[in-house]
Amino acid sequence: MNKEGLETILNNLSIDEKVGQLIQLSGEFFSGDELSIGPASKLGIDDEKISYVGSILNVSGAEQTLKIQKKYLENSRHKIPVLFMNDVIYAYKTALPSPLGLGATWNPKLIEKSFNMIAREASSAGIHVTFSPMADLVRDPRWGRVAESTGEDTFLSSQMIKAMVRGFQNNFEANNSLVSCVKHFAGYGAAEGGRDYNTVDLSKWRLFQEHFPIYKSAIDAGAKMVMTSFNTIEGIPSTGNEWLVKDVLRKQWGFNGAVIADYAAVAELVYHGVAKDFSDAAALAMNASVDIDMKSPSYINHLKKLVESGVVSHELLDAAVMRVLELKNALGLFEDPFRNVSVDTEKRNTLTKENLSISKEVSDESIVLLENNGVLPLKKDKKIALVGPYADAKDIVGMWAINTDFKSVVTLKTSLEKEVPNLVYSKGTESVLDLKSFGKLAALLRVNEKEINNPDHLVKLLSTAKEAMEYGDVIVLTLGEHMLASGEGGSRQHLDLPQHHIDLFNVARTYNKPIVSIIYGGRPLLLDEISKYSDAVIFAGFPGTSGGASLTDILVGKVNPSGKITMSFPRNVGQIPVYYNHFSTGRPMGKSSHSERFVSRYIDGPNDPQYPFGYGLSYHDVKISNLKLNKQIMKLNESLEVSLTLTNVTNIKGKSTLQWYIHDHFGSVVRPVRQLVGFDKIEMKEKEVRDYTFRITQRDLVFYNSNLDLVLEPGEFTLFVGFDSDCKNSMKFTVEG
Ligand code: GLC
Repeated sequence: MNKEGLETILNNLSIDEKVGQLIQLSGEFFSGDELSIGPASKLGIDDEKISYVGSILNVSGAEQTLKIQKKYLENSRHKIPVLFMNDVIYAYKTALPSPLGLGATWNPKLIEKSFNMIAREASSAGIHVTFSPMADLVRDPRWGRVAESTGEDTFLSSQMIKAMVRGFQNNFEANNSLVSCVKHFAGYGAAEGGRDYNTVDLSKWRLFQEHFPIYKSAIDAGAKMVMTSFNTIEGIPSTGNEWLVKDVLRKQWGFNGAVIADYAAVAELVYHGVAKDFSDAAALAMNASVDIDMKSPSYINHLKKLVESGVVSHELLDAAVMRVLELKNALGLFEDPFRNVSVDTEKRNTLTKENLSISKEVSDESIVLLENNGVLPLKKDKKIALVGPYADAKDIVGMWAINTDFKSVVTLKTSLEKEVPNLVYSKGTESVLDLKSFGKLAALLRVNEKEINNPDHLVKLLSTAKEAMEYGDVIVLTLGEHMLASGEGGSRQHLDLPQHHIDLFNVARTYNKPIVSIIYGGRPLLLDEISKYSDAVIFAGFPGTSGGASLTDILVGKVNPSGKITMSFPRNVGQIPVYYNHFSTGRPMGKSSHSERFVSRYIDGPNDPQYPFGYGLSYHDVKISNLKLNKQIMKLNESLEVSLTLTNVTNIKGKSTLQWYIHDHFGSVVRPVRQLVGFDKIEMKEKEVRDYTFRITQRDLVFYNSNLDLVLEPGEFTLFVGFDSDCKNSMKFTVEG
């Protein structure tokens, strides 16, 4: 429909109908047979208002969405279709690895392809908009939503987020794409204490330099929607923050799409203490140009009166409604409200062989080998004791895989026993013993409460584990964090593995046999003891539908692990936040002229993490030599060519992620000791020697100064090239004005 057509619709809407377009309610309000009232009393909403809502949250399935859309259009005077929005963060029926694992692939092309597959599945289920990707920069693993992020680095996350948006919105006109709603704008990952929903206090300088570029990469990739975050920005919650939404997002970045508040975030302006009531909250959010109120009683019960009383102008209301109508129009819903969704199409597009093979490709590359003394890959003739609560578990898909078909999840046991003739399995212990910390989510844990509280059951599990460990030549343990201990609201004060997992590990140690520890989790965990006494350590993250198959192929050597962590693994919680791209400080340890006591360090432990950003092992090994620059001095408008030789010194082919970092020796503001500016995942054949070049350009060297101008300042730089952020190969160069 053209602009005039939309304007005609807009001009013919009553004020109630206009307000309705800015409301999002969740599925319980729409049973599908009719627009029945769900817990409307909770929000004080009457039937008529429900029949006007512009979008519905977290309903999916062709049958359900078609039924609701049909009923909805019958009641709609202007035949405005309703939007179905859903948390298809990284999974629909097929679950990719959770985003921390997606980041660990360092393979944006593969991520784009896999998100296109997810979009095909979800759009055939009638979903129009996905609340993904999450573009929050994170540096505190106590924060549960680390699992949904791609880690601590602005540049890497920007490449990943761009790929996700492109994947979702590929050839948008086709009906197998999704609107990508990038979230949570902005700075949500910097919650104090890593405690979800807690205060964020970032300077504008840090926002522009480290956090904003990732959201901006989504906008530049064409994301059609933005979600505001729960947290404050300089004392004003994002959802009521005019500077953030109207000035930065819309005016500076030119974003004129729809903005939705996070779940009840409009109403929460009252609890933040910046709005005296829900009416005040509605006015604050509307004046910040937040268009859609997700599941809160603010717009739906107060916006009409605010417009009629002039507190919110008709122009503001119309502008917001128009952005929602334009979003529906971009999806072609006025021409085809059903977007050729059908139960058959859904079946044809979901959990197909192709989809599963794509998810396997991704999980292969998402898994990180942290330690290996040569015990991996497993020798075929070895007897394997596969022990642990995740070996045959299907709940390894992460908290946000809310639509995933668990039945289709491949467990490690199911796939490994096909590869290893002499394998004995024992669960060894339960994944979770203490349900208290899960609250209401405990019901979703898939654990048998009676069993976990039955000491005889646990003793029996342990005794079968001991038999297996007795039998095996190699003990493969599966331990870690449960997926519901991670994700939204999953803030943790302790990052150790559950004590009963550590106990099982210590039992395994008594057999003095090689131990391969596979760790599941949605965040960097404390692995000191595990790493010290294991012969190999694999960090699996939440590897998704094909995770078990990928782990099998890595264990037996069919897949050469290539994952690289995108978040530093701390040695203890006291180090947090610990990240590679930190600033020097005036008293850098090891460089300061002050005595060792009076420098930036801890007196009771090291500064450096257990595993640094960008780290991960493979079965092959590539060396760098002949690192050269085509010149030592680069003019402001020039670029540098960097050349080097890569040599695979093994007879094993594999993928190596070459990474290059810069250090700007001095600037008008402090500059990070290292900053990732480029990477490339390179497939190396057995014994291959390859010359490789890349360029350093101005884009790699610019930064925000204290006036928030993006500048490139002449001076001395050091380039570091290698396979993790600790790499030592370096060259100096100068930028001249
Ligand atoms: C949640 C999350 C957000 C999600 C939304 C809808 O509270 O913060 O990421 O998309 O609500 O479920």
